[in-house]
Amino acid sequence: MDITINIGLKSYPVVVGKDLLNLLGVKVSQLGFKKVLLVTDSNVGPLYLKTAKQSLIKEGLDVAQITLPAGEIYKTVAAIELIWEKALESGLDRQSGLIALGGGVVGDLTGFAAATFLRGIGFIQVPTTLLSQVDASVGGKTGFNLRQGKNLVGAFYQPQAVIADIVTLMSLPEREYYNGYAEIVKHGLIIPSSGLLDFLDENKDKVLKREATFLTELVKMNVAIKASIVTQDEKEKGLRSLLNLGHTAGHALEEIGSYKTYYHGEAVAIGLLIACSIALERGLLNEKTYLQVKNLLQNLNLPLRPFGDIDPKIWWEKTFSDKKSASGIVYWVLPTSDYQALYGQKVDFAEFRKAIASLRKGD
Ligand SMILES: NC(=O)c1ccc[n+]([C@@H]2O[C@H](COP(=O)([O-])OP(=O)(O)OC[C@H]3O[C@@H](n4cnc5c(N)ncnc54)[C@H](O)[C@@H]3O)[C@@H](O)[C@H]2O)c1
Ligand SMILES: [Zn+2]
Repeated sequence: MDITINIGLKSYPVVVGKDLLNLLGVKVSQLGFKKVLLVTDSNVGPLYLKTAKQSLIKEGLDVAQITLPAGEIYKTVAAIELIWEKALESGLDRQSGLIALGGGVVGDLTGFAAATFLRGIGFIQVPTTLLSQVDASVGGKTGFNLRQGKNLVGAFYQPQAVIADIVTLMSLPEREYYNGYAEIVKHGLIIPSSGLLDFLDENKDKVLKREATFLTELVKMNVAIKASIVTQDEKEKGLRSLLNLGHTAGHALEEIGSYKTYYHGEAVAIGLLIACSIALERGLLNEKTYLQVKNLLQNLNLPLRPFGDIDPKIWWEKTFSDKKSASGIVYWVLPTSDYQALYGQKVDFAEFRKAIASLRKGD
């Protein structure tokens, strides 16, 4: 069964399952497109472009393609320009669509190009990383990085469909695969009643084997959680900020590592533990949930502490450079064991420092 993201007239389906790339053409033509531009990157293209293209051509679609260089450093306006130019050169019009075939980088770039080309044309997300299937492809955030920071320019622009083929996850390098699990643990902590953390605990062997039926269920559970949040608050006026759990300390850590040392999920994993530790001290989270999260992250090959020593003061100061710090105040999201996580929480330096110190315990 598809999951529907209910955002009024902009509602769209998220389809999750096996071998969906072969059905891409059917899905895209059902949406009424005649001409599409397939956007991918230099890692994903050689693996999946041919299958995707053939499926589209089989349904009589006119298909153009562009392969961008892979990697976060290429998530720039220059890449957007390449997409716009290719779209123009290929004769795309208002009835045409863009298809993002790749991870979160391709998805964010393609979404922004679609939001702006001819003042907006349709687009479809075909996420191929675990992170993009459970998080980035749903919710309509699109954009690119500036030299000064990540995702500083963007638009809220919803896709017309998300098609997540679980089979694409089989080719993910190990570190990329586990990177996606930090957002999954985050979702489980935001809504404890989802049972997601227990589900992960019960299926450790299936995580390791990348078992397709398990992954299908897992992606669906995560999409449902993200959907329940973004449909209530599309443009992040309040509730949607719950999705920033673990990201206050996490983003700061990514910046300290110049976006090279840590993968996003790795920094978020450490950020989640810091938020959990603060919540534990405040009595919001019980010891059992705290330990469950810690063990889960460890089993998922995610780091439990920074790779080297970091001065807490420097780390703390970096949390203020996040673009989400409204007027110099940083609001944290803190988990609870029994209820939905809490957003809009103020944390002081002493609490933060204590949480960092606690990461070193249990060596
Ligand atoms: N829009 C949102 O709501 C949202 C949410 C979270 C993250 N993001 C963004 O997503 C990006 C991170 O996403 P990501 O982790 O998917 O990064 P990514 O797109 O860079 O993909 C990670 C790496 O895996 C490769 N790859 C992708 N699919 C593959 C496959 N099936 N097999 C083998 N290799 C494959 C890519 O080429 C890349 O090298 C960041 O730019 C982040 O800002 C956006
Ligand atoms: Zn994230």
